[in-house]
Amino acid sequence: MLYIGVDLGTSAVKLLLMDEKGEIKKIVSREYPLAFPHPGWSEQKAEDWITAVKDGILELTNECDKSQVAGIGAGGQMHGLVILDAEDNVLRPVILWNDGRTQAEVDYLNNDIGKKRLTELTGNIAFAGFTAPKILWVKNNEPEIFAKIAKVMLPKDYINYVLTGVHCTDYSDASGMLLLDVAHKCWSQEMLEICGITEAQMPKLYESFEVVGTLKPEIAAELGLPENVKVVGGAGDNAAAAIGTGTVGDGACNISLGTSGTIFISSEKFGVDDGNALHAFAHADGYFHLMGCMLSAASCNKWWMDDILKTQAYGEEQADITDEKLGKNHVYYLPYLMGERAPHNDAQARSCFIGMTMDSTRADMTQAILEGVAFGIRDSLEAAKALGVDIKSSTICGGGAKSPLWKKIMANVLNLPLTDPETEQGPGYGGAILAAVGCGEYATVAEACKTLVKTVGVTEPEEELTKLYEARYQTFRKLYPALKGVFPEL
Ligand code: XUL
Repeated sequence: MLYIGVDLGTSAVKLLLMDEKGEIKKIVSREYPLAFPHPGWSEQKAEDWITAVKDGILELTNECDKSQVAGIGAGGQMHGLVILDAEDNVLRPVILWNDGRTQAEVDYLNNDIGKKRLTELTGNIAFAGFTAPKILWVKNNEPEIFAKIAKVMLPKDYINYVLTGVHCTDYSDASGMLLLDVAHKCWSQEMLEICGITEAQMPKLYESFEVVGTLKPEIAAELGLPENVKVVGGAGDNAAAAIGTGTVGDGACNISLGTSGTIFISSEKFGVDDGNALHAFAHADGYFHLMGCMLSAASCNKWWMDDILKTQAYGEEQADITDEKLGKNHVYYLPYLMGERAPHNDAQARSCFIGMTMDSTRADMTQAILEGVAFGIRDSLEAAKALGVDIKSSTICGGGAKSPLWKKIMANVLNLPLTDPETEQGPGYGGAILAAVGCGEYATVAEACKTLVKTVGVTEPEEELTKLYEARYQTFRKLYPALKGVFPEL
C-alpha cells in the first residue's frame, strides 16, 4: 500500500509518497507566499495551502497506481489561527506561529490570569505565537470578525477538514493552543472561557495516528484517488518530525533546524519545567514531550544569504569557514529576527551582530549566524538539563541539517553526538508513518518507528572544540540580558 505524508511548512508544503516498507517513492513540493504586513507580524492565506496541497498530491501520485493509496497523514506548522464562519469560510488571513503582535494579550494571560493558573490549566504559559493570545487579539482588535467565528482550527487541521469535511485536531498540535489541558488530554473549559469561546467552536480531538475520516467524494474525484483513502489526525510539525526521526519513548531527542529551531525530548510521562522555558506538549505516539522552540533558525541563514548577501550559493559562502576558525569567532549574532520564544519569551527581542572589528569578514558574519542559532538551541538544552533530563545524543533534521559545517558547530556547541536519519523528510515522513499506523500496517507508532526509521551517520563533538565553544556560549548568554532593555526602543 502507499501512504502520503504532508509537511505543511511555513515557506512550502512538501509531500512524499511512502510504501508499507517505509521506502520513499517520490517527493514534491510547492511554495507559497508569507506576508509580513507590519514589523513582527506574519500571515499566510489558507487558500494558498489548499491549492498547493491539491496540486502537490496530483503531481505526487501521477505515476503510481492510485488504487494503492491507502492513507494520508499531515504534520503542520503549529499554533496558527485559522478561523471559519458558520459556512466554513476562512474569516481572515491566518496569523502564524512566528507572529509577534499579541504582546498585550500575552501580558494579560501571564500577569492577570497568572502563569501559575495557566500552568495548572494547560501545562504551559502564554507565548506570543500560541493560539489563545491570537484569539484574544482578534476579540480585542477585530470584534466584528470575532463575532462570526464558528470554528477555530490549526493549519494542518484545515487541510484535513478540506479533505474529509471533519473538524478535527490532534493532541500534539492542540497542545500549542494554550486551550488544551495537556495532562488530561481535554479542552480546558476555563481557558476557553478566558478567550470568550466555547467547546462547540473547537474541533474534535484525536490521537495523531487515529483515522478522522475518508476523502470527501468530490475531493477524491478531483485528486483521482479512491474514496476510501483514510486521513489520520496528523501532528504538529515538530511531533511529526520526531516520529520521522524515530524520537519516541523516554528521553529520546530530536533537533530540527527549519524556519524555526527546536529541540524535542520525548517522554512517557507528562512533566513541566519550573521556568516554563520549555513547552510541555502531547506527542504523536500517544505520550508526551518537552520542546524548546526558537523562532528563527535556518531562516536566519536564509535571510542573510537571500536578502542581504543576495546569493543562493550557501555552500560557497560556508567554504571559507575552515576548521581552524571554529570556536574562535569574536563576532556574535543574536538570532531574534522574529523576537524569541525559548527561553526569553520576548516578542520585542531583535537580531543583531556584535563584536565586529576592522578585520571581521563576510565569512565571520556567516559563521556568527550558524553559531548564534546553535547557541539559541543550547539555551533550550540547558533548560531541559535543569529539569534533570539526561540527553546523551540527538537526531538532527530540517533544511539546516544539510550543512555538514552547521552540524559540526551544533554538535560542539551542544556537546552531543548528532545522528542523521536516513531520510531527511522529518515531518512528511512522520505524517506518512502515522497514516500507515492508522491504516493498521503497524500496531503502534513506536513499532512503526522501530521498523521504518534508520540512521546513516553521526557527527561527534570534539573535546578541544567543545571547550572553545563552551567559553563562547558563556559570552553569548550575557548578550541578551545586556540588550534586553534597548529592544523595545528599536
Ligand atoms: C513550535 C513552533 C514552530 C512551528 C514551525 O512551537 O512554533 O516549530 O511549528 O512550523
